Amino acid sequence: MRTATGALLLLLVGLTAAKVVSEKRMVGKDVLLKQKTIYQLFYRITQDELFPEFQEIAHSYVLEDNVNNYKRPEAVYQFLSLYRESEDFLPKGKVFSVFYPKHWEYAQRFFDLLYFAKDYDTFYKTAVWGRYFVNEGVFVYALHVAVLHREDTRDFVLPPPYEIYPQFYVTGDVITKAYEAKLLGQGVESEKPVVILANYTGYPEPWTPEQVLSYFTEDVGFNSYFAYLALQYPAFLNNSYYGVNTYRRGELFYYTLQQLYARYHLERLSYKFPEVDVADYYTKTQYGYAPFTTYPNGYGAPVRPVGVAPVEYDVFSVEGLTNLEKRIRNAIDFGVFYSQGLEYVRLTKEKGVDLLGNVLLASGDSVNREYYPSFYKWLISLYGRVVDPTHEYEVPPSSLEQLETALRDPVYFSIVKRILNIFEQYLNKLPYYTKEELVVPGVKIENVEVDKLVTFFDYFYIDMKNVIPVQSREEASQISIRARQSRLNHKPFTYKVQVSSDKALDAVVRVYVGPKYDYLGNELSLDERRKYYFEIDRFPYQIQSGKNVIERNSRDSFFFGSDAPTYKDLYRRVEKAIHGGETYYYEDNTHHCGFPDRLMLPHGTKSGFPLSFYVIITPYQKVEPVKNYDTCRIDMRTMFSEGYSFGYPFDRPIREYEFVTPNMYFKDVVVYHRSQDEINSSVRV
Ligand SMILES: *[C@@H]1O[C@H](CO)[C@@H](O)[C@H](O)[C@H]1NC(C)=O
Ligand SMILES: *[C@@H]1O[C@H](CO)[C@@H](O)[C@H](O)[C@H]1NC(C)=O
Ligand SMILES: *[C@@H]1O[C@H](CO)[C@@H](O)[C@H](O)[C@H]1NC(C)=O
Repeated sequence: MRTATGALLLLLVGLTAAKVVSEKRMVGKDVLLKQKTIYQLFYRITQDELFPEFQEIAHSYVLEDNVNNYKRPEAVYQFLSLYRESEDFLPKGKVFSVFYPKHWEYAQRFFDLLYFAKDYDTFYKTAVWGRYFVNEGVFVYALHVAVLHREDTRDFVLPPPYEIYPQFYVTGDVITKAYEAKLLGQGVESEKPVVILANYTGYPEPWTPEQVLSYFTEDVGFNSYFAYLALQYPAFLNNSYYGVNTYRRGELFYYTLQQLYARYHLERLSYKFPEVDVADYYTKTQYGYAPFTTYPNGYGAPVRPVGVAPVEYDVFSVEGLTNLEKRIRNAIDFGVFYSQGLEYVRLTKEKGVDLLGNVLLASGDSVNREYYPSFYKWLISLYGRVVDPTHEYEVPPSSLEQLETALRDPVYFSIVKRILNIFEQYLNKLPYYTKEELVVPGVKIENVEVDKLVTFFDYFYIDMKNVIPVQSREEASQISIRARQSRLNHKPFTYKVQVSSDKALDAVVRVYVGPKYDYLGNELSLDERRKYYFEIDRFPYQIQSGKNVIERNSRDSFFFGSDAPTYKDLYRRVEKAIHGGETYYYEDNTHHCGFPDRLMLPHGTKSGFPLSFYVIITPYQKVEPVKNYDTCRIDMRTMFSEGYSFGYPFDRPIREYEFVTPNMYFKDVVVYHRSQDEINSSVRV
């Protein structure tokens, strides 16, 4: 493991602009003071009166008088004209959704102000002003995106989304119980801390496969991770206006959905559930969803019954969507998209997936956003709005139309499957990888040994403090009300890869887990199962001539992140460091954007859930480092692609006899599931 980490550092030093995984950077007091103000801005979003200094700024700051403090002064005027209109469509207190075009535009315009503020002071005052006068949802969204993209804030460690808005992450009964506890005088830190049991929807007696899986689709870490991804890559950002590098965004969109789907599918397989149906938007859907969540304003998130077919809604129709899908699928078959200037843009082997991804997302890099509006977005909206398509009843936006809750709704995965089918239509046209392309001469993986793989459930505590209104910050600090939820976890594991090589080689090792059998127990061919391989690690390694043993622990993988620290801990740490008690470091590998480490392995079974562990070694090809615009380790993911496509080599159809080469290895493994009792009572489970 040492060697692996050492090699990692060694290799990374050569890549100038890229961030180093294990780098620790000391943070100065001036930066920490700024970070602290961000925590205050996210503090109790629904209560404005707790910081007197905010009140003063909010009421004295005048945007028009500060136009020259923004890099793009027109952003101020654009925002203000929309802000005056917003009273009609999104005043404070109403539920915001990025999937509502008007809401989205409003959020984008407010983000522009925060992003283009010339200095921190202007940014801060704008944010404080916004906290008072802009819709809360818009504010939280725009502030997140701004903090993640501004040069002077992008390294800040943000509070977990499930503490900013616990309402999105736990069912309404938990919120009510928290209020009750407070009214009864319980939940005082020094006297009677309160712990509320938070169940997943459908529990304790789930009826459908999707309800059985709600512990997975409603996992707070999983949903936070997903929300962050969307905040990291908002579709509207482009290079020309915002100066952000959106390198391989379309391809990343594909890979993110593909991996999300693969991981979900493995969870289904563990219970022998069949694959989810593809979203067929002209017929009735079999996936209903009763979220049982209440929005911060007290309205319940709408319920979608089983057997409802999407209908025309205020801004789009089923027919429009059908046409759009045809348009995109035809373009794939022809191999060209039409640009805005009516030129042909070819889908080449190198850039095709990226191009297609940007079109499906209608991102800032799309060849033609007018002719190809976002199929992904409209499809989500189509299902999201079935309950009240024309807003006759003013039903709030659905769970599906919230970044924080989209994954909770099972129909989301069936939508993702439709999007992936479109990508597959394209990928199936690409040539197979040949033996010559796959092989690394002289390098052979002799064996792979994997520790026993074990999953279990353990408890996780969510701080519910933020949902309780308080008179003062002192009172807030006394409250101790938490929700307890059981979440999937796994024992850390080590694996060893034995490699023989006839030369020294700078290599990259990729590690995947995938299925072996379908839900009926039939063995799958490699081409059938390639779509479900989930990448669990990718790291550089210096292979020596002769025999090598690569030892790696599951904890070393930079794709994954541990549970986020609580708001309280983050705030305390920053305060301590400001007052000189402790040194504060930014560590990229504890950043909030990793896929939750807990969910690395799918739920095992009592007798063992059979899976296929896959390792491939490829030469490290140095490519020009790209200064990407985000702080997440997705950045690293991009960098490590070093000339290979994401998902290599499973991203193309497979001919089994051409595929298996000595530099790769398939290992059969099984995942066991154990109860906490069993885990606790024996070391050797
Ligand atoms: C939550 O689940 C437990 C069993 O897992 C059950 O005893 C309890 O009644 C459930 N609570 C609610 C509010 O449904
Ligand atoms: C980039 O974004 C800005 C602001 O949304 C927009 O006005 C502009 O047209 C976009 N540029 C391109 C090339 O898409
Ligand atoms: C198992 O051990 C953990 C950690 O020590 C503890 O929190 C948990 O309550 C134990 N569970 C059981 C069922 O004994």
